[in-house]
Amino acid sequence: MSAPYIVTISSEKGGVGKTTLATNLAIYLKALHEDLPVTLLSFDNHFSVDQMFRINRQPAKGDVSGLFSGINPDALVETGEYGVQFIPSSNQLNDLRHELKDTTLLAKALAKSSLGGIVIIDTRPDLDIFTQNALYAADRVIVPVKDAPSMDNCRHIYDFFDSHGLSRRPLRILPCLVDNRIHYDGPFRDPYQLLKAYAINRGYRCMEGFIAKSPKVESLNTNPEGKIYPILTHGRQTEVHVQIANVARQVYLHSLDTELRRLDEYRLAMVHAEREHQSAYEIRCKELETGCLVCGRPLVDNDGVSAAGYFAQLSDQKISGFIEEECFTKLVFRYFYGAKRSIEPHDPIWDLFRESAQRSYFLLQRAPHTRNFYQQKLSFYRFDEHGLEVSHKTIELQEFEKRLLSKERSDLFPLLERTLFDDQGRLGDSFLLLRKVSSDLPEEILYDQNFENFTAIMAKISTQLP
Ligand SMILES: Nc1ncnc2c1ncn2[C@@H]1O[C@H](COP(=O)(O)OP(=O)(O)O)[C@@H](O)[C@H]1O
Ligand SMILES: [Mg+2]
Repeated sequence: MSAPYIVTISSEKGGVGKTTLATNLAIYLKALHEDLPVTLLSFDNHFSVDQMFRINRQPAKGDVSGLFSGINPDALVETGEYGVQFIPSSNQLNDLRHELKDTTLLAKALAKSSLGGIVIIDTRPDLDIFTQNALYAADRVIVPVKDAPSMDNCRHIYDFFDSHGLSRRPLRILPCLVDNRIHYDGPFRDPYQLLKAYAINRGYRCMEGFIAKSPKVESLNTNPEGKIYPILTHGRQTEVHVQIANVARQVYLHSLDTELRRLDEYRLAMVHAEREHQSAYEIRCKELETGCLVCGRPLVDNDGVSAAGYFAQLSDQKISGFIEEECFTKLVFRYFYGAKRSIEPHDPIWDLFRESAQRSYFLLQRAPHTRNFYQQKLSFYRFDEHGLEVSHKTIELQEFEKRLLSKERSDLFPLLERTLFDDQGRLGDSFLLLRKVSSDLPEEILYDQNFENFTAIMAKISTQLP
């Protein structure tokens, strides 16, 4: 299904007619094409949209703030007056404003929804994070401008598009609240001509036409009933009626012309990014050693049950793989914790270690300042989950005693041979970092975010090593 066409009404100036345009545009679009779904939402802190369109007197199911917390817009949309759908306004945006940084949240939310047709977004007179989100998602941005200062302010919107690598194509200036009674001598006969010349001078493109200042229009939201009346029903005799109908026609025609919508582009970019992540993950999976790095046994049995207990990766990233929980635990107790007796699974000490290992990183490395060919020393470090050292211990590898490679090899030897030994069969410069994994889903550690954490800790740890 095609993504909705998004129109954002934005300008940093208040009182230029944004809300009046947004709300009436919705009604005129609906009048132009009855079957066209039209959805309206506002990030302004006034409740004009709700006042004008709300039919339902029950409490709202949610409001526009939900768009930023992962709620599907489908669940927020209400059916309103004049056939216009709307998402209720929110009074919680102030609290959210400084927490949010991501300008793509609204695009993400709308891309997930089943909304079609045209979505109109009214914004606050401010380039805050909600306006930025609305600009980011837009196929068409209408910038109402009523005078030279508000024209100057447009620069910030253009800058936003430039700095986010977005095409300026959606941007259009619309002179609003134009006072027809004013006439000038010279080439620009009236405020409209003048504003248009300003815009062209700055390289800004304009919508066709303008919206005139009309006392009748102004009166539509001031009445004893406390209602806001549409221009279509209560201001038909004004020139603004014709002018907004004209804007609606332009918006509608452009929506027909825009086959690839901004949200389609955004969806494609998301799929692409997803695929790239996926392939990075697949590469990491493919590069894993197949058996346990200690005992060499396959890690997955015939029933698909994995014995993987720890993930291990060499600091130069040349080798990564899993180690069975039992293999690693036995090595640790025997060689580094100096256990006098053999520790077996279900021993309370074993359980204690397993539990605390979940919050640890372990590291194996040639002991600092020991490049002696005949005396190989190995250090074992334990770090906490933030990558801060908890303890370390250094042992001498028995195999290298008496200048001879002993025939009798320790249980550590196969692991070192697979990971830390260099071409000459001696401890190299890299270190091996280990992290406990969940036995249900060991490869979880290779997921983008988890793996990023792992490599970040690896980088942090490497700066602390002697
Ligand atoms: N075409 C118009 N002619 C006269 N008054 C208008 C017109 N459009 C809007 N207004 C009035 O101007 C004021 C600001 O309009 P509004 O749409 O709320 O602007 P914004 O959303 O940019 O702050 C309101 O009182 C509104 O009734
Ligand atoms: Mg407003």
